[in-house]
Amino acid sequence: MTTTTTGRTPLTGAVGTAHTRVEGRDKVTGAARYAGEIPFTDLAHGWLVLSTVARGRVREIETGPVLDMPGVLTVLHHGNAPRVTSDYVGMLGVPDPTAAVFQHDRVPHAGWPVALVVAETPEQAREAAEVLVVRYETEPHDIAFEADRPDAHAGDEAAEKGDLEAELAASDHVVDAEYTTPEEHHSMMEPHAATAHWDGGRLEIVDSNQGASWVRSELANMFSLDESAVRVRSEHIGGGFGSKGMRAHQVSAVMAATVLRRPVRVVLTRRQMFSLAGYRSPTAHRVRLGARADGRLRALGHRSLNQTSTVYEFVEPGAGVARVMYDADAHHTANEVVRLDVPSPTWMRAPGEAPGSFALEAAFDELAEKCGVDPIELRLRNEPETGPVSGLPYATRNLAACFHEGARRFGWADRNPRPGLRREGGLLVGTGTAAASFGAGAGASTALATAEPDGTFTVRITAADIGTGARTALTLVAADALGTTPDRVRVRIGDSDFGPAWIAGGSMGTRSWSWAVTAAATELRERLALNTDIPPEGITVRSDTTEAIAALAQKERHSYGAQFAEVAVDPATGEVRVRRMLGIFAAGRIVNPLTARNQLLGGMTWGISMALHEEAVRDRATGGHYGPDLAGYHVATHADVPHIEADWVDDTDPEDPVGIKGVGEIGVVGAAAAIANAVWHATGVRHRHLPIRPDRVL
Ligand code: MOS
Repeated sequence: MTTTTTGRTPLTGAVGTAHTRVEGRDKVTGAARYAGEIPFTDLAHGWLVLSTVARGRVREIETGPVLDMPGVLTVLHHGNAPRVTSDYVGMLGVPDPTAAVFQHDRVPHAGWPVALVVAETPEQAREAAEVLVVRYETEPHDIAFEADRPDAHAGDEAAEKGDLEAELAASDHVVDAEYTTPEEHHSMMEPHAATAHWDGGRLEIVDSNQGASWVRSELANMFSLDESAVRVRSEHIGGGFGSKGMRAHQVSAVMAATVLRRPVRVVLTRRQMFSLAGYRSPTAHRVRLGARADGRLRALGHRSLNQTSTVYEFVEPGAGVARVMYDADAHHTANEVVRLDVPSPTWMRAPGEAPGSFALEAAFDELAEKCGVDPIELRLRNEPETGPVSGLPYATRNLAACFHEGARRFGWADRNPRPGLRREGGLLVGTGTAAASFGAGAGASTALATAEPDGTFTVRITAADIGTGARTALTLVAADALGTTPDRVRVRIGDSDFGPAWIAGGSMGTRSWSWAVTAAATELRERLALNTDIPPEGITVRSDTTEAIAALAQKERHSYGAQFAEVAVDPATGEVRVRRMLGIFAAGRIVNPLTARNQLLGGMTWGISMALHEEAVRDRATGGHYGPDLAGYHVATHADVPHIEADWVDDTDPEDPVGIKGVGEIGVVGAAAAIANAVWHATGVRHRHLPIRPDRVL
């Protein structure tokens, strides 16, 4: 791999060459400003007040004493806040009512926003918010997430092929096991923050989000404004992972800015994020695998259950990954959901795939043991020809190549398949593997490419760089399409005035935006070939990929990966340590090896975290969390990640103009299963419930 940090890449070939982040210097010197730190004149500060009860009604809010406190400007609540509409279908479907705050007196969960105190300074707002007296009428609440809830209902259409029970009965080997994952939170470095202000007749929001055109259209809908009357800017984002969409802070900031006629900023605290930012629901799975003597599947059943709130139906589709991975004569998958008095869950990196792959890939390891077949060989014997449920051909499916390359580099051939044999001092050592898969879609986007009179180029697109390196990737993509070097291309993102574009979500951001950037840049290059006179305002070309994307062939389109882990287990303390991890991925053409590797390593590290540490615990009495902060919620740190490698095999998507698929989410998929399988190999004990805490190992 060649590393170029100066931008002096060959005339073509920017894509595929490692490039440091174009905004890296701004970020490390503090020149890059985040949403909560951009100065505004006459700025007022809002502080959200969250319910302390888990279910009931707000009976009374004693605003009087608080309004007399120093600096306090107003207290918004259900009795006086502007009305919003939730009666629309937005860019990503119906709105999440979680964001429609102060519209009624009902309290659906602990931590529901009941008021916004606005003051001259954040300290004044906070002090007033903390002493605001809110009286409730409480009702009994139910937050008990259990696998056998009788009130669980279908979250999507079950996918069914063949007679599962008959094929299980006819199988030589059967695995029938239940797995669970706990409530998990994406508590990214930069908390949610938004500033709203009216600029003439136009509403402007400076925000930290995963899609400025999406947030613009949501706010326009909610406040019954024309989209052109709303501008959302989101230039630098300190992490998103699915949680930075439309939430209470943007909506309450707009309400307060409208009422007070001055700029208002609302920032979530770390603890508020545990109630208001969404989270990954706990999940419960039943996986049933039935195989012939040689390991080929007769039956595959996967039922996944998650919780949602009483205000919003969010389905964590844990059984979805099974619909892609393996075929069987009978194939039944279902995602179910139960409504509880809890905050609304949301997307969290690899929603569905992350918990679903833990269950499915751990069950596959159990089947390998029963069949006496190597776990990699078992997966290769079950490689499908076409989509197991859809019957569609695969655009590309390079899972086998990932396993071959991974096994070679990890040293898998030397492994004794029997568990509990390797000892080093007082430690038990084992290795495990698991497969990964994540969807590779594309969303319609527009882009503007401008040739400037000085010979440089400006590309504008409403992309979001949530830390992925998207801005840098788009610079490389644009340079190639323009036939120039990356140092002559300036990419501007995160401004809804640049036009509609897909979100940084579903691992589809860089792919979707690159498509639009390539289209605009290619046309601009063709125009410049005919005419080299550039007027002072430059020459601008606009692209729109709506039609191109609609023409994508109907195929199974996914990234794949093979995860490997080695663990050491201390039987005296129950401590599990991951010693090394390797992930080999087939994730489309890699635009920037440097930042793509970051994404994959980040996902794999999250997998270590998921396997061993992460768990948000709710108190059944109050409905709230124990320790909702980064002291109480454990995540993997540097010391937990001693040696970790990510690499890839060639896997160009033939129907994408750049060959991209997407690398944002696949790194976490299968990672926890590989670790759990390694723990079994070390100890001979199956751990079907995450995290694998010391007390569970002992
Ligand atoms: Mo990702 S969970 O699609 O932001």
